[in-house]
Amino acid sequence: FTIHNQTVSESCPSNIALIKYWGKYDNQIPANPSISFTLNHCKTNTDMEFIADELFSVKTFLAGNEEEKFGDKIEKYFRNIEQYLPWILQGKYIIRTENTFPHSSGIASSASGFGAIAKCLMSLDESFSGKLSEEESLRKASFLARLGSGSACRSLYNGLVVWGESQVRGSSDLFAVPYPKDEIHEIFRNFNDWVLLIHEGQKSVSSTVGHGLMNTNPYADRRFQEARENFGPMKEILAAGDMEKFIRLVEHEALTLHAMMMMSDPAFILMKTGTLDVINKVWDFRKETGLSLFFTLDAGANVHLLFPNDGSEETVKSFIGAELLQHTQNNGVVKDVMRF
Ligand code: PMV
Repeated sequence: FTIHNQTVSESCPSNIALIKYWGKYDNQIPANPSISFTLNHCKTNTDMEFIADELFSVKTFLAGNEEEKFGDKIEKYFRNIEQYLPWILQGKYIIRTENTFPHSSGIASSASGFGAIAKCLMSLDESFSGKLSEEESLRKASFLARLGSGSACRSLYNGLVVWGESQVRGSSDLFAVPYPKDEIHEIFRNFNDWVLLIHEGQKSVSSTVGHGLMNTNPYADRRFQEARENFGPMKEILAAGDMEKFIRLVEHEALTLHAMMMMSDPAFILMKTGTLDVINKVWDFRKETGLSLFFTLDAGANVHLLFPNDGSEETVKSFIGAELLQHTQNNGVVKDVMRF
């Protein structure tokens, strides 16, 4: 076995789910399928230095600062995936990572972070397994990223991405697959995601704990069924370019995710008052202007404002300035776009 000393560098974007993954079984098997947009600007850049023939250890630096807790998490993750990368424990790692978006902005840095780490691992694996085809390599990276953070497996592909057995051709619980581009109306191929940073502090409940609480949530099975069923209309909406139905479905998914949290035992709430203020103002704005501006939420307080990139930027910008910015911390808005 030979993997020589080397440093590999990879970059991976974050993603935002439209049909949400919330609840899982052992080995990161999702309780329901999910679909997301991969972002274009919000990325993690990672350098991974591998020093062969040293005792296995992992040191991680985030934006130059050592992060021991993250290092411990990665060490555990590497031990967990040894069965898929037999060489992985045979050296020492120095991992330097930085995000192109603000820390703890609630933009999923675990998705971009594990995506980038999985890509680095596949790049190291080339010296061991030989070069795989790009398709095989991405699929295995997606498989490995899933074992780090479920939603990370969707970040390996651009555009709309599906994870979990569903009505989408080729979909799997083990890795994500790109949603067939020729079945996506062009209106969905140039879309804005502007994230309003409502609350930048630590989340009160981690997503690991949140997923766990679905195990005893009496509404969980109904929810998993609903998410599976939502793939039917979603497929039709994407093909037809039906914006009205898209908005209804995406907002419903976001609110259902948070409703599940409120119906957990113990219950928890990740929205803040600013989240609710923004949602109400978005609804009013849509009623008044007829513009396709809507929202989705991740497991946190921040609001992702979604709208097609069709010339309404200036109107949305003034609306944010006049009505929404007051609900953010430090006037925080992170602008991204999905273009594919
Ligand atoms: O990937 P995890 O385990 O952090 O789960 C995150 C799940 C959500 O972001 C809330 C929804 C999703 O599908 O991305």
